[in-house]
Amino acid sequence: MSKKAKDRWNKMYKDGTIPKGEAIDVVEQYAHLAQGKQALDIACGWGNNARYLAQSGFYVEALDISPIAIESLQNMKNIEAKEVDLDGYILKENSYDLIVMTYFLGRDFFTQFHKALKPNGILIVEHWVEHSANSKEFLGARNMFDKGELLSAFDEGFNLLFSSQQTRKLYDNREMMSESIVVQKINV
Ligand SMILES: C[S@@+](CC[C@H](N)C(=O)[O-])C[C@H]1O[C@@H](n2cnc3c(N)ncnc32)[C@H](O)[C@@H]1O
Repeated sequence: MSKKAKDRWNKMYKDGTIPKGEAIDVVEQYAHLAQGKQALDIACGWGNNARYLAQSGFYVEALDISPIAIESLQNMKNIEAKEVDLDGYILKENSYDLIVMTYFLGRDFFTQFHKALKPNGILIVEHWVEHSANSKEFLGARNMFDKGELLSAFDEGFNLLFSSQQTRKLYDNREMMSESIVVQKINV
């Protein structure tokens, strides 16, 4: 499964299907709410978010399965980029002031985020969401969050700071519906 993912993503990074770009808007708008500077970018790809965060003064751990993507982030100031398979990956506890996970269906991390965040830590997630406008054939029905899934995943142990749905262009310019959420850890 992950070998397939690695080959598929590597190919898209290598052949230019996925260009480097800018950080996701919600990351630019809400990252500053973090009270400290330790950040984690899950499935970072080219590191659009990681590079923005590092330039904004964060120390960023950036994780991805693609060696091509990870190689592009080596030796960048304030970024520690690691090639890892996130299937079954366990996040370090009490380690991050900010976690971002964009365009990666990392459901398995939902139950780990609270422990991985430091007190008052900020979590930002954005990904495709089930919507009549979205092509399941193209994205795969299993590569979207269910309706309401993000909101209900963090309704305990977190304060909701922001949520929205918006259309966003895929790499081939096709428009799809995505959902964003920003929550802050409640300390117990
Ligand atoms: C759509 S890209 C998102 C990249 C970046 N987060 C962004 O928003 O631009 C999805 C990323 O997930 C990574 N990925 C897919 N499966 C993975 C796995 N099992 N372990 C680690 N990374 C994985 C891919 O290599 C790819 O970089």
